[in-house]
Amino acid sequence: MSHLPVLEVCNLQVAFTEHKRSISVLRGLSYSLEKGRVLAVVGESGSGKTIHAMSLLSLLPPTAHVTGGEIRYQGTNLLSLSARELRQVRGAKIAMIFQDPSASLNPVLTIGEQLIETLRAHQKMSKQEARQQAIKLLEKVGIPDAEKRLAEYPFQFSGGMCQRVMIAMALSLKPDILIADEPTTALDVTIQAQILRLIKDLQQETGMTVIFITHNLALAAEIADEVLVLYAGLCMEKSPVKALFDQPLHPYTQGLLASLVSVQHKTEKLAAITGNPPVAGEVFSGCPFAPRCPRALEKCRQQLPPLFEKEGNRQVRCFLEGSK
Ligand SMILES: Nc1ncnc2c1ncn2[C@@H]1O[C@H](COP(=O)(O)OP(=O)(O)OP(=O)(O)O)[C@@H](O)[C@H]1O
Ligand SMILES: [Mg+2]
Repeated sequence: MSHLPVLEVCNLQVAFTEHKRSISVLRGLSYSLEKGRVLAVVGESGSGKTIHAMSLLSLLPPTAHVTGGEIRYQGTNLLSLSARELRQVRGAKIAMIFQDPSASLNPVLTIGEQLIETLRAHQKMSKQEARQQAIKLLEKVGIPDAEKRLAEYPFQFSGGMCQRVMIAMALSLKPDILIADEPTTALDVTIQAQILRLIKDLQQETGMTVIFITHNLALAAEIADEVLVLYAGLCMEKSPVKALFDQPLHPYTQGLLASLVSVQHKTEKLAAITGNPPVAGEVFSGCPFAPRCPRALEKCRQQLPPLFEKEGNRQVRCFLEGSK
């Protein structure tokens, strides 16, 4: 296996402009991802998970822009590509599935029309070839009676089945990287587990790289090789999955894990992290987690800790760990 990373995100900064004010939402995110790895990006609502995914595909809303950094896909900085070059990357090299599959499908076209159109937009093939390919793809994602279901419309599919179709579409162009943004959040728990299993199986079969975005650490534990904990647009901790669960280093990760354990054991009192994350636009000079941190030092309120490198390929943004 080549050890050249398939994706390198270097000091990525994204801001929104509102009433002529620039509001930072990603404050210098860096990570590199080797081919075939599964990275889970975990964080509370508003931490910047989706904005990070959208910036990888240059699909940011019009009021948002990348204000610094690089996104290197196989060595090429995606931020320097023309719109035309980007279209060749999007979908074919880096594909994405979203939280609400029914909103991503066109309600007035059949499932078959949408799949066939996607296939033919990027690859030279006849309608008949594309149709055969579409049937194979639906079978692959576990849709029974695939041939018959090609003629059906999205409303005739359940939420779980729609998500399977979205996965089929994402896989149709054999992308190197699949970004899955909360792909199971809109589904009930049993279906969630099936979709997670499907993504995992397909990842192992194709060897693609996956960026799995979730607010749920338990899902990250199921699927990821590595976990990146995002907080207020900053990486707080990045670690191989097992080490993170065995010994979380950052007080925020420790709090997230404690909440997870108390939910699983149905203890009466949820060991939740008190307080709220900073709101967009809030200016802070120290660690953004300091106001909620049970172990914060005076220094933590004044100075932003850097990401300290730790043994076992881990990184943590915490002065308590930096001094060890
Ligand atoms: N269109 C927008 N205009 C202004 N601010 C936005 C917009 N979209 C997102 N933001 C802000 O950017 C920050 C990051 O949002 P993002 O959607 O990436 O969060 P997230 O981690 O994906 O949250 P969730 O778990 O709710 O999906 C938030 O503070 C949010 O308020
Ligand atoms: Mg989101």
